[in-house]
Amino acid sequence: MMSKFMEWVDARFPATKMWEDHLSKYYAPKNFNFFYFFGSLALLVLVNQIVTGVWLTMSYTPSAEEAFASVEYIMRDVEYGWILRYMHSTGASAFFVVVYLHMFRGLLYGSYQKPRELVWIFGMLIYLMLMAEAFMGYLLPWGQMSYWGAQVIISLFGAIPVIGADLTQWIRGDYLISGITLNRFFALHVVALPIVILGLVVLHILALHEVGSNNPDGVDIKKKKDENGIPLDGIAFHPYYTVKDIVGVVVFLFIFCFVIFFFPEMGGYFLEKPNFEVANSFKTPAHIAPVWYFTPFYAILRAVPDKLLGVIAMGAAIAVLFVLPWLDRSPVKSMRYKGWMSKIWLLVFCVSFVILGVLGVLAPTPGRTLLSQVCTFLYFAYFILMPFYTRMEKTKPVPERVTG
Ligand code: HEM
Repeated sequence: MMSKFMEWVDARFPATKMWEDHLSKYYAPKNFNFFYFFGSLALLVLVNQIVTGVWLTMSYTPSAEEAFASVEYIMRDVEYGWILRYMHSTGASAFFVVVYLHMFRGLLYGSYQKPRELVWIFGMLIYLMLMAEAFMGYLLPWGQMSYWGAQVIISLFGAIPVIGADLTQWIRGDYLISGITLNRFFALHVVALPIVILGLVVLHILALHEVGSNNPDGVDIKKKKDENGIPLDGIAFHPYYTVKDIVGVVVFLFIFCFVIFFFPEMGGYFLEKPNFEVANSFKTPAHIAPVWYFTPFYAILRAVPDKLLGVIAMGAAIAVLFVLPWLDRSPVKSMRYKGWMSKIWLLVFCVSFVILGVLGVLAPTPGRTLLSQVCTFLYFAYFILMPFYTRMEKTKPVPERVTG
């Protein structure tokens, strides 16, 4: 019965072909490690955000008069509304934790290098859209930080010469952030950006499956195949990695549930304290800071004394990641076989990024501003010097087969 049905379907739609191409006959390197959990976890979080988001939308009211109260209504009166909201707000932070580790894996194993440049570019576009999605989502509860955070970020566009003032007004749709802004952010957050992100994720995975996955050794497994054309160091994604990824999912869900049930606000890092007060355009909070995942870039913005140059530096900090595949001139992919300069620079970059993240949360002092300037310098130095140190340094020989 079943095979007859599948035959019928396959004559009309490539169901079996897709299953085989992307799962049961997609041969992935057998040496995937811890860092390879985060792609499937990013997919899981994406699904969580979409499902909980749809349910939240059923009870949320996107108007300046009612948004804040409707979130309180979800938290107190809607059946299981509190868990839907915490799954969504914790999911937003979890998304960035997972995606940052996923990107770090790319840096560690040179996964952006030829022939995976497009995998990386699609990934970067996802990251950009994810930032826009999180930024717009944060306005929706219409709390003090929603309002003033958006106010600070949108006003940055005002630094652009000539068109700045008109541009900020165009984005807000009003002379100040108002219900009109809330309505358009709602439309973009709930409909437009999720569609774009989903489409980009499909392109990301199609591009990856076209060239095959990289691995912690950076060895091309397609170079050594058996008589059936199957890579000697490859294993079928299904059932081997589908089952392995379940282990990652279970561990992730433990941590995720722990946060939801015991620390949903995460001490003000996942849900900021001023956001428990309704937006008030006459009352500026004493200290405005974006949510933690934006703070490294916020610190770069503040490190530059001139507003326009600060905005340019912040944009450049993200833009430079797009061209990473062309900055790395190393003959080897994985950090395991790169020289000591690549290792030190990656460490310097990561430490600077974390310090910038911490500084972005804190109120600026002269000492902190100086430290953020040093870290901003090191952040860019990692990329600008990359073509030189990756070419100059002595690399180790890459083995013929993966090492396990
Ligand atoms: C919604 C967000 C994302 C999803 C759902 C996602 C999903 C995936 C999946 C399922 C894989 C294959 C499994 C794995 O290698 O872990 C993958 C690989 C990859 N992703 Fe993503 N990704 C996302 C964001 C990003 C971002 C932001 C970047 C970097 C800018 C990125 C760069 C890469 C690279 C380079 C690979 C290939 C890794 C390798 O073969 O070693 N991804 N992604």
